[in-house]
Order: sequence, then C-alpha cells, then structure tokens
Amino acid sequence: METTLNQQKTKSLQEEIRRLVGQKNAIILAHNYQPPEIQDVADLCGDSLELSIKASKTDADVIVFCGVHFMAETASILCPDKKILLPKLDAGCPMADMITAKTLGEIRQKRPELVVISYVNTTADVKAQTDICCTSANVIQVVNSVDPAMEIFMTPDKNLAQYARKNSDRRISFWDGYCPIHNSLTPGQVMKVKKAHPEAVFLAHPECPPEVLALADLIKSTSGMLSFVSQSDKKEFIIGTEIGIIHPMSKANPGKMLIPADPDMICRQMKKISLTDMIGALNEMQPEVKVPEDIRLKAKGAVDRMLAISAGLSMARD
Ligand code: 13P
Ligand code: SF4
Repeated sequence: METTLNQQKTKSLQEEIRRLVGQKNAIILAHNYQPPEIQDVADLCGDSLELSIKASKTDADVIVFCGVHFMAETASILCPDKKILLPKLDAGCPMADMITAKTLGEIRQKRPELVVISYVNTTADVKAQTDICCTSANVIQVVNSVDPAMEIFMTPDKNLAQYARKNSDRRISFWDGYCPIHNSLTPGQVMKVKKAHPEAVFLAHPECPPEVLALADLIKSTSGMLSFVSQSDKKEFIIGTEIGIIHPMSKANPGKMLIPADPDMICRQMKKISLTDMIGALNEMQPEVKVPEDIRLKAKGAVDRMLAISAGLSMARD
C-alpha cells in the first residue's frame, strides 16, 4: 500500500518535472550513478563523456544537470549562453577536490615541459591549467595523442593514471588523488564475489586500484560497461563500480544477473539531488553554475581538445 503511494508520488513529481522542462525549453542530463527516479525522468543518461558531448550539442536554453559540481561546470564551459542548473549546489566530487589550481600551477612552473592531462573530475580552475582533459571512456586515446617525446603528468586520479600507463607506451607521472568509492574496492572482496559466482564476467571501472583491475575481465567507463553487458551473450556479471549503474543495466537486461562487486560502493554525493530539488530548480532557475569567463576560456581549450580526440565515439543512450 505504502509502495503504491510512493510510486504515485514519484510519478506525479516526474510529470511536473516534464511539464516544467517543456515550459522552460530545458533538458535534463543525468549521470549513470543518479537515483533511479532521476534517471527515469532524464532526457539523457550517460557517462561523463556522453554528457559533455550532449551538453555541447543541445539547443535547449536550460540544462538541468543531475550529477556533481564538476559536471555542471563542464556544461558551463561548453555552453556559456545556456543556464546550467545543479539542483543541489553542494553535490561535489571528493576526488576533484584533491588537486587545486594553485598546486597544479606550482607544478607547471617547476616543470613547464610536462603535458598536463586532467580527468574531467576536476574543478574548472584546474582545467584552466590543463592541456587536455580526459574521461574514463577516452583516457587511452587522449594519452596516445601526445607526442611520445613528451612526458605526461596526470591529475588527479592515480588509479586512472596507472591504468593509462599500463595501456600506453607514453611516459606518465601522476598526482596522488583517488575516488574514495572506487579506491576502497579490494582484491579480497572481488575474489569473494568471484568465488560465489565463478561463471560471472568481472567488469571494473578504471578508478579502481591496479590490484583490482588486474582481476578484471574488462575495464570500462560506466556506459562502456552498460553497452558490454547489453551486447554480451553471457548471463552473469560482477559490476565493479558505483551501484547506481545497476538500475539502467537491469532495465536494459532483464534476464541477466548483475552482482555488485561491493554493495557498499555508494557515492553519497551522487545521491544528493531529489525530484523535489529538480522542481525547485526549474521553477526558480537556480542554483546556477556559471564558470567565470576568463577561467572558462582557458578551461575550454582542454575540454575541446579532448572532444576533438574523442570525435567518432558513439553516443550510447539517447
Ligand atoms: P564515468 O561515468 O565517466 O565512467 O565516470 C565515473 C565517475 O566516477 C563520475 O564521477
Ligand atoms: Fe567523484 Fe567517485 Fe563520486 Fe564519481 S563516484 S563523483 S569520482 S567520488
């Protein structure tokens, strides 16, 4: 009875959101880790790369970004004329806060010869000090685009950087940052789940530690995992990333068994936004994320270079 009431409430909030979206000529972009009811009301769900590409191409006047702060900033960098709303302004990525523009500036001053590649999980200020951005979906392509004679410095994710180093012949040093959620997945935990499901394919996100990636059958971005599971004729999968991805995966693959590598891999920051927050944001046209123009122009170079390298990669879910 209570479930039915909750479902009705969710449905009526979603209907109100869709009405406001039409009225304001808005689009809702949601990351794959967002709560199910938000993914279900969004115009597009995807990984960081897909969401950036979509933001750069939309003709909507307003983008409601359901994700974390750096994602809304990336949309602002790419679309200065659009209003970018982040329904909970304090939804942030702890990894993005592990490197500051000041520190990166000091490193650049000491080592001006380095090519700086920053994960999109960085602030706009850090992107403004960056040569090329990358995401988990295009990191190898981006690294390989650099002249082999140059040394690369990657920020902030040490795990993504080590994954890139293992899969490229480029010289790469890196900052000591990490995603607290992915970095906490241990080989012991993975082995326990593998033992319980010996037939399962283990998919891991490149933000996981190298010892975990060593156990993976496949290493992919969130949307990369989604496409793989949908296309595979295997029936069981262990999913080594934040558990929000299980929602779109199970919707697209009703007959397959999807086992979280660790059910505690929950990013609280990605769960901050609610349907009610989205209605508030669409009604009030705030909280808005707007990157100052001087920073935006510098950061845009790094994001544009990444998008140019990635051009040709397909959008997974429209
Ligand atoms: P992707 O969805 O781009 O793989 O990124 C994962 C992530 O942690 C985003 O914050
Ligand atoms: Fe940041 Fe990790 Fe959360 Fe993604 S899952 S937003 S990288 S803390």
